Amino acid sequence: MTTRVGIAGGTGRMGTALLSLLDQDSRFNVGAVRVRHGSVPQNPLSDGAVLVTTARELFDGTDVVLDFSSPRLCQEHVFLAKQTKVPLFIGTTNLDEETLDQIKEASNHVPILVSSNASLGAAVLELLVEKTTRILKGYDIEILDAHHHLKKDAPSGTAKSLLQAIERASDLPVEAVTHQTERKHPKGTLQVGLCSIRAGGILGDHYVLFGNEDEVLTLSHRCLDRRLFAKGALHGALWLQAQPPGLYRMADALSF
Ligand SMILES: NC(=O)c1ccc[n+]([C@@H]2O[C@H](COP(=O)([O-])OP(=O)(O)OC[C@H]3O[C@@H](n4cnc5c(N)ncnc54)[C@H](OP(=O)(O)O)[C@@H]3O)[C@@H](O)[C@H]2O)c1
Repeated sequence: MTTRVGIAGGTGRMGTALLSLLDQDSRFNVGAVRVRHGSVPQNPLSDGAVLVTTARELFDGTDVVLDFSSPRLCQEHVFLAKQTKVPLFIGTTNLDEETLDQIKEASNHVPILVSSNASLGAAVLELLVEKTTRILKGYDIEILDAHHHLKKDAPSGTAKSLLQAIERASDLPVEAVTHQTERKHPKGTLQVGLCSIRAGGILGDHYVLFGNEDEVLTLSHRCLDRRLFAKGALHGALWLQAQPPGLYRMADALSF
């Protein structure tokens, strides 16, 4: 049985990567692709797929929806996922607190996976960062993300997810510090430095450094091809549609 997917953001960089992968993957067929009125995706749509301009049409008759669009559109998709009970994979980043709260509430009714980095390697990096934070207590921790110059948000969604992994593992309250001059090394708080680089065509590099006076441990992940995110998203979407309602991360879709 094939899984019928809906894609939000079909003309974007990620939408284009997803559609070209889906074209060669017999596990899926594309149901609907949401685009802005009058826009068309770069590649021709496969047989049976329709271009739509509303969230309702996107969810109509699909088994799972993948959202790589904008925070505003994502809000509409969360609402429709809750209403239609169609599982939703959210790859869109830079979601505000209000949207995150809506996602949490909607996930009581429908499975939702939120991943700021859909690659399997980045999910493993998150697990390693969580574990390392538990082990290397008292170390300074710095997160660096590097991306292409067109990226709209900074720090990256992945950097924020890595910060959350540190928060889950830290005994101390975590405070994110974006300017080194803000670093005061207060007792009873773990200050984590966040730094972003935006240059050229970098697809997405993340480094997490753990350091004390004697050593520095660096965990890192590098994206070499944008299809990496699309491949991971399809893996996650397939896994998600078999889950009960709940809020999931990419790490939940790993089998180990
Ligand atoms: N989770 C991950 O692994 C991962 C990886 C890469 C990127 N991302 C995130 O995914 C999102 C998309 O990334 P991208 O690089 O593909 O960006 P992009 O190239 O700018 O694509 C955004 C897409 O959303 C569409 N869109 C935005 N507003 C719309 C509206 N009001 N109505 C209809 N369509 C609308 C755009 O259509 P138009 O072209 O017509 O504006 C475009 O198709 C970003 O949040 C990015 O940070 C996540």
